[in-house]
Amino acid sequence: MKAIILHGGQGTRLRPLTHTGPKQLIKIGGKPVSQWGLEALSKVGIKEFGIVLGNNHPEKVVEYYGDGSKFGVSITYIYQGEALGLADAVKKTEDFVGGDNFIVYLGDNVILEGLEELLKFQGSASILLAQVENPQRFGVAQIKDGRIIRLVEKPKEPISDLALVGVYAFTPDIFDAINKIKPSWRGELEITDAIQKLIDEGKSVSYHVIRGWWKDTGTPEDLLDANLKLLDNFLVEDNNGSVENSKIRGRVYISPQAKVVNSDIRGPVYIGKGSVVENSMIGPYTSIGDECKIRDSEVTNSLLLDRSEVSGVQLIDSIIGQSSKISKKVSSFHGSRFIVGENTVLQL
Ligand code: TTP
Repeated sequence: MKAIILHGGQGTRLRPLTHTGPKQLIKIGGKPVSQWGLEALSKVGIKEFGIVLGNNHPEKVVEYYGDGSKFGVSITYIYQGEALGLADAVKKTEDFVGGDNFIVYLGDNVILEGLEELLKFQGSASILLAQVENPQRFGVAQIKDGRIIRLVEKPKEPISDLALVGVYAFTPDIFDAINKIKPSWRGELEITDAIQKLIDEGKSVSYHVIRGWWKDTGTPEDLLDANLKLLDNFLVEDNNGSVENSKIRGRVYISPQAKVVNSDIRGPVYIGKGSVVENSMIGPYTSIGDECKIRDSEVTNSLLLDRSEVSGVQLIDSIIGQSSKISKKVSSFHGSRFIVGENTVLQL
């Protein structure tokens, strides 16, 4: 079976981080969000991928994933361009899919459970559902007598607390359904409308409710939550770098050429290739990208993207964009929170 990873969209809720690249490439624990999904799908046996590209620096996606061989899979790129909706993105994959059943996975979601269940599907389509506390933020499914009767995108009235998780299994029937729907009020072709069309036409749409953790990383808070959960559940303890005069506690991954000097690292913490941590306290729940520099600082529950630099600051619940710099000359620490985009320089 082939899988499609949706790598388009606008990512407006994650600006300014998405001014210079798609949100799906934001790295957590050393891997872009979409790579966590690709690897989970590869683990359940899918080796042939189509990646749908949008308008936001699609070349960065191609540069990162290449032909897929680095990841043990094959990748074909399909250009969607403007974000005209999930169903529009799926429609553009018809030639690639070529008459087989297929999986569609939203590249900004982290779903590591229930994929095997999805592969066993019968009927025209299958979806994963999860109980949520805030159903008005999601597409939700109303179930009656063990069957899905209605899907509603971001319902104002509470009709169900079972949200659609961002992965779907389809037969090519979905393409006919997409051809019959019209754009929604927000101008997008909605995948929920296409699945509803299948239901209305009497086709069978099955579902499976997952109980574990999953995450849609659409907002900064979601990204930090995904960072916490991924580090908590999947970080492997290893030291490939150098550690001098430092205390390392809990699960900490130190990448090759990374250096930790006179510091206190409290896991789970990921430190990327070539990064330097000096006179600092890091963790817990912190991902540091490649070639970052952290000096005289405290960093807790945060995400520092590649080549960012911080000095003399205390960061909590923060996301620092690629190549951004934050420095403070005086040494009095006050907690601060930052959501900072790429190439930003802050001097406090
Ligand atoms: P969304 O998060 O719903 O949309 P978005 O990426 O435009 O973000 P925002 O609302 O903050 O502006 O998209 C869900 C996933 O589907 C995400 O991985 C991006 C992808 N997508 C496409 O590939 N094509 C599209 O046309 C749309 C709307 C989304």
